[in-house]
Amino acid sequence: MENNNRPVGVFDSGLGGLTTVRELRAILPNEDIIYLGDTARVPYGTRSRETILRYAHQDLSFLERFGVKFTIVACGTVSSVIVGESSFSKSHCTGVIEPAVNAAVRSTKNGRIGVIATGASVRSQSYEKLIRSAMPEAEVYSKACPMFVPLVENGYTSPESVPTLAIAREYLEPLAESGIDVLILGCTHYPLLADVIKKVIGDGVKLISSGAEAAKAAKLRMETMGLLSSASSPGSIRMFCTDSPELFRENARHFIDTSGISVDRCSVEM
Ligand code: DGL
Repeated sequence: MENNNRPVGVFDSGLGGLTTVRELRAILPNEDIIYLGDTARVPYGTRSRETILRYAHQDLSFLERFGVKFTIVACGTVSSVIVGESSFSKSHCTGVIEPAVNAAVRSTKNGRIGVIATGASVRSQSYEKLIRSAMPEAEVYSKACPMFVPLVENGYTSPESVPTLAIAREYLEPLAESGIDVLILGCTHYPLLADVIKKVIGDGVKLISSGAEAAKAAKLRMETMGLLSSASSPGSIRMFCTDSPELFRENARHFIDTSGISVDRCSVEM
C-alpha cells in the first residue's frame, strides 16, 4: 500500500528545476516537495555522459532518503542522458524530454520544431529522436546554448542586458530564419530567458517550457497511479543545495517566492 502523503522529489543541477516546482505548486498545491539543486557542480551540460550519470544517481539517492513517492528529473541534461537507463525506474520518475516533445508536437502547425538545450542534451539527440518518432515528417532544428545556464545562475535574465541579448542573437538568429513555429526550451533554466528569447525569435513562435511540461506530466502519472496526496491544506517545500544556501536563495527569487521556504546545504557525494 502506497503512502500518498510522502513528498514529491525534484532535482536539477542548479536553479532551473525551480521552473518545475513553480508549476507543480500551481497545479498540485497540497503536495509536499523536496527540491535539490546541485549548485556546487552546476553546470552539468558541459560534462561527459558518465559524469552526468554519476551525479544523477547521487542526486536521486539523496532524494530517496526522504522517502519520495515520485521523482521529477527537472534537468534537460540529466533527462537526455538517462533515456534507456533502467536504473531510473520509469514508473515513479519522469524526466522532461517526453513531456516537452508531446507538447511541441501538439502545438506545431507547420511541423518545424526548434530545440534549444545544453551541449550534452543536444549531443545526445534525445529530443530530436523522440520528435521524429512522434512526428516522422517533422523538421527539427537543434541548437546548443551553453552560455545560457551561467547567465541565468548569475541573474542576467533581462532583455535589456546587453551581453545576454548579444549571446541570444548569436545562438538564435539562425533558428529564427528556419521558420519554426514552436521552440522547446529543452533546459529548465531557459524559461527565465523567455523575454530575451522572444525578442530575438519573435512573438509568433510558441515557447514550450520543458520544466513546466514535466510537472504537468507528473501530475497525470501520479493521478493514474493513485499517488496524489489526500491533504487538504497547502504542502510544504524544502530546498537543498550543495553550495551556499544564501546564494541559492538570492538567485532562486527570480524563479519562485522563497519566503517561508527553508534552504539547507547538503552533500550528495557518496
Ligand atoms: N537545468 C539544466 C538543464 O535542464 C541545466 C543544465 C546544466 O547544468 O548545464 O539542462
